[in-house]
Amino acid sequence: MGAGSIGLAIIRRVAAGKHIVLADYSMENALASAKTLENAGFECTITQCDLGTKEDTLRLVEIATSKGKVKHVVNAAGVSPSQASVERILEVDLYGTSVLIEEFGKVIGEGGSGVIISSQSGHRLPALPQEQNDALAMTPADELLSLPFLREINDTLKAYQYSKRCNVLRVMYEATRWGRRGATINSISPGIIITPLANDELHGPRKEGYLRMIKGMPAHRAGTPDEVGDLAEFLMSSRGRFISGADLLIDGGCTASYWYGDLQYLKATH
Ligand SMILES: NC(=O)c1ccc[n+]([C@@H]2O[C@H](COP(=O)([O-])OP(=O)(O)OC[C@H]3O[C@@H](n4cnc5c(N)ncnc54)[C@H](O)[C@@H]3O)[C@@H](O)[C@H]2O)c1
Repeated sequence: MGAGSIGLAIIRRVAAGKHIVLADYSMENALASAKTLENAGFECTITQCDLGTKEDTLRLVEIATSKGKVKHVVNAAGVSPSQASVERILEVDLYGTSVLIEEFGKVIGEGGSGVIISSQSGHRLPALPQEQNDALAMTPADELLSLPFLREINDTLKAYQYSKRCNVLRVMYEATRWGRRGATINSISPGIIITPLANDELHGPRKEGYLRMIKGMPAHRAGTPDEVGDLAEFLMSSRGRFISGADLLIDGGCTASYWYGDLQYLKATH
């Protein structure tokens, strides 16, 4: 799910010789990515899906299983704080991702693997009370949006941070179920990766903050979708079989700097 920059970088690395089912809300993005993939020798089916709509995810599962054993599941669809309302961010990034993990967990093939793209943003929330962690991890997906502490969120950055924290906790919880089917599932939390989504942020109301962040972090640069793709490839390869339920932060040291280094000034605003 998600035919954008990070999704495409991952697919190119793991899908050789397999049939790709490419799902995205934007048919324009899906068609563009399908063309790139087909021109590089990959075989794919495209379908329009809204990650925030359970029926669409169920339809995607049906299409994927009709093609054979499901070997890899990649969720790289999402909306950022500058792109959508609080309600839509929670619906897509938090609820939709949880449904997708739950539903593909019922059909993932033996030896399969899943990678869910979370974000460094989730690592900026202070530690949550254990009851909130447990609720985000284990509440049935259909009931998640009724959790009282989620209903109190009134800014898009918070909605995004809670969603991304939820992705990581959900992956931990679901790793046991996926493991029963002989499959692994992990999340990747990227920092600033130059993609259309990041470009929206770089030209949106948080532009100044983004530029200062890039300057102040240990890597002094933004990352590329290919660097995230390399990490996902490792997790989904035979070398990654002992890794499940984990979250891998790939952010040029930004989170380290946010908590304990030059970017601590951001704590006042993030
Ligand atoms: N780029 C970054 O700096 C960065 C950093 C951290 C996390 N992320 C996460 O990476 C993921 C991928 O984003 P990207 O950077 O590749 O951006 P992108 O804009 O290239 O791709 C995002 C894709 O998601 C699709 N999408 C949006 N809403 C959808 C929905 N409801 N249903 C289905 N598809 C939908 C978009 O059409 C787009 O093709 C997102 O979850 C994002 O939160 C990105």
